[in-house]
Amino acid sequence: MEEKISKKIIGLMSGTSCDSIDAGLCEVFPDMSVKLIKGINYPYPEHIRAKVFSAFRGDITIKDLCRLNFAVGKCFADAANILIGEFGKPDFISSHGQTVYHYPFDEKIDNISLKSTLQIGESAVISKETGCMVISNFREKDIAYGGQGAPLVCFADEKWFKNSLVQNIGGISNVTVVSDYCDTFGFDTGCGNLMIDYCTQKFFGKKFDKDGEIAAAGNVCESWLDCLLQDEYYYISPPKTTGREYFSNKYIENILKTAPSEPADIISTLTALTAKSIAQAYERFIYPVVIPDTVVIGGGGAYNKTLKKLLRSYLPKRIDLKTHEDYGISNNFKEVMAFALLGYCTFYNIPNNLPSCTGADKRVVLGKITEV
Ligand SMILES: Nc1ncnc2c1ncn2[C@@H]1O[C@H](COP(=O)(O)OP(=O)(O)O)[C@@H](O)[C@H]1O
Ligand SMILES: [Mg+2]
Repeated sequence: MEEKISKKIIGLMSGTSCDSIDAGLCEVFPDMSVKLIKGINYPYPEHIRAKVFSAFRGDITIKDLCRLNFAVGKCFADAANILIGEFGKPDFISSHGQTVYHYPFDEKIDNISLKSTLQIGESAVISKETGCMVISNFREKDIAYGGQGAPLVCFADEKWFKNSLVQNIGGISNVTVVSDYCDTFGFDTGCGNLMIDYCTQKFFGKKFDKDGEIAAAGNVCESWLDCLLQDEYYYISPPKTTGREYFSNKYIENILKTAPSEPADIISTLTALTAKSIAQAYERFIYPVVIPDTVVIGGGGAYNKTLKKLLRSYLPKRIDLKTHEDYGISNNFKEVMAFALLGYCTFYNIPNNLPSCTGADKRVVLGKITEV
């Protein structure tokens, strides 16, 4: 077997929030630890971001989607090239791409499975524009092997944490359960920031509720919160994943019909919804299996102070609430570090999915390689 050595890898990722392309130059070591050398948040040009949001809404032609795949590839390359300009070429690039659709349901027509996922950001463009080999398209093979293609970051969480619930709060929220007493498992708990972002934009003209200041100024409407928590997604047993296809703009407009009249109260209550749906998911699906010592939050939501305070109040007192930064991992760049690790495994032919998280039939090597 080939002797493994450390590799410099640029991880590239844009999540469901579509707030920025996150690019991180990482060093990945044979023991699967990852050091972030430098991370940047590279904004999409506004017209591209607008098109990605059109794609989320399904309000886009096939022609535009075709063009967007190549355009997003160029934007991902531009983000990588900023790091390459400063540090030189890495050994290779590992790109998650931009998810525009995710369909994790076991639905069949004429025995043809419709389970599928689509990440855009053409790897051939990234490779040509950077001069680097690119590893990309991690999710498809997990789906081909019967999984949901997500969550994939659990693989990294298992390597980096012990006896913890690792909770990412991006557009969507997902948890990984890492414990000495059970196999690692994980699932999407529900919304992260995406409803908060949508309503902050709609009522306050801001992209997000910085530090949770708007939520802190409002009051949680308990009756509306209870009603929102009745959604059937929260009751489905894992493995389960979700996205903007479910928690869509239409979904948000629909729940707003019964919202309190004060906009700040809406933001407060949606912030409480994210926190309480996380805490309830633990009660329903995790505590019956294992009671952890620590919850470690990451993703952009970890910077929302009101969200953090609410989550603290909904969690059992004996559980410590920490952020990734307490472990020397940036809340912003944890996912690019995880995809750098997934790419490292692809390179060395090491299986990098966890069937207990995705529901796949077996462990396989995810990722496709585009040579320069
Ligand atoms: N300082 C902050 N205060 C409150 N929320 C923040 C802050 N920074 C980032 N966020 C939230 O985090 C989101 C981005 O989180 P991220 O982890 O990048 O999600 P995704 O993986 O979906 O792109 C933003 O849209 C915003 O809602
Ligand atoms: Mg993001």
